[in-house]
Amino acid sequence: MNNAPIGVFDSGVGGLSVLREIRRTLPHEDFLYVADLAAAPYGDQPAALITARAQAIVEFFLSENVKAVVVACNTATAVAVKSLRARYPIAIVAMEPAVKPAVELTQSRVVGVLATSQTLASERYARLAEKFGGDVTIIPQPCPELVALVENAELNGPAVEAVIARYVTPLLQRGADTMVLGCTHYPFLISSIKAVAGPNVRLIDPASAVARELRRRLEADALLSNQTGTGSEQFWSSGQPDQVASVVSKLWGRAIKMSALPAVYSM
Ligand code: DGL
Repeated sequence: MNNAPIGVFDSGVGGLSVLREIRRTLPHEDFLYVADLAAAPYGDQPAALITARAQAIVEFFLSENVKAVVVACNTATAVAVKSLRARYPIAIVAMEPAVKPAVELTQSRVVGVLATSQTLASERYARLAEKFGGDVTIIPQPCPELVALVENAELNGPAVEAVIARYVTPLLQRGADTMVLGCTHYPFLISSIKAVAGPNVRLIDPASAVARELRRRLEADALLSNQTGTGSEQFWSSGQPDQVASVVSKLWGRAIKMSALPAVYSM
């Protein structure tokens, strides 16, 4: 089982921001990545559909004999991780908006959380803000247009910054000095978000913490790979494989091959 692959999924290309951190932390592991574009964006979908899609993808991974699954999507985590963990007896590592570190770091005592509407509406998010918020004002900021920018590989330029400003400027006006990137698509926009937010705002991406958590979990279960070479990545999508292949190649930094997710696991 040690040399079995690890399944990683998101609604689209956002989870690659998590996969790149995991790749750095675990260079010898093999990964299977699913971009569930037929159902994207998850942020605008009903919870029942997101849960059904997450289950179908985990079942695909199990059919490929994975040793662990990473839910590289805050929305799917917020809505579905509890039911995934109850249903499947396999290590499932998931996202968590970085509210706790943001509360520890803020000087102005105002933190913004950039995420999808579904994540911010979830009970899981409410509990997190309640548990770690203390005397800090935590402002939830849904950013419905940002996912599509990343899916189209539009990451820089004045038009992108104008869209980001709609979400970030109100947070700056309320005194936020720390912002949580609560959707795995947003790290690909980090230089544009920085350009809008200015040098005094700290942006927090939980991806490296998730990568460390995955390593800790594999160590604890004695499931780390014992291969010595660099591991591989394989990609599937429920959307149009050719279209998404070019965006994934751009974001991943090398030409990749994208396969169609088998129909039985698609929508
Ligand atoms: N990347 C996802 C997240 O972290 C989902 C974005 C979407 O599909 O709306 O929330």
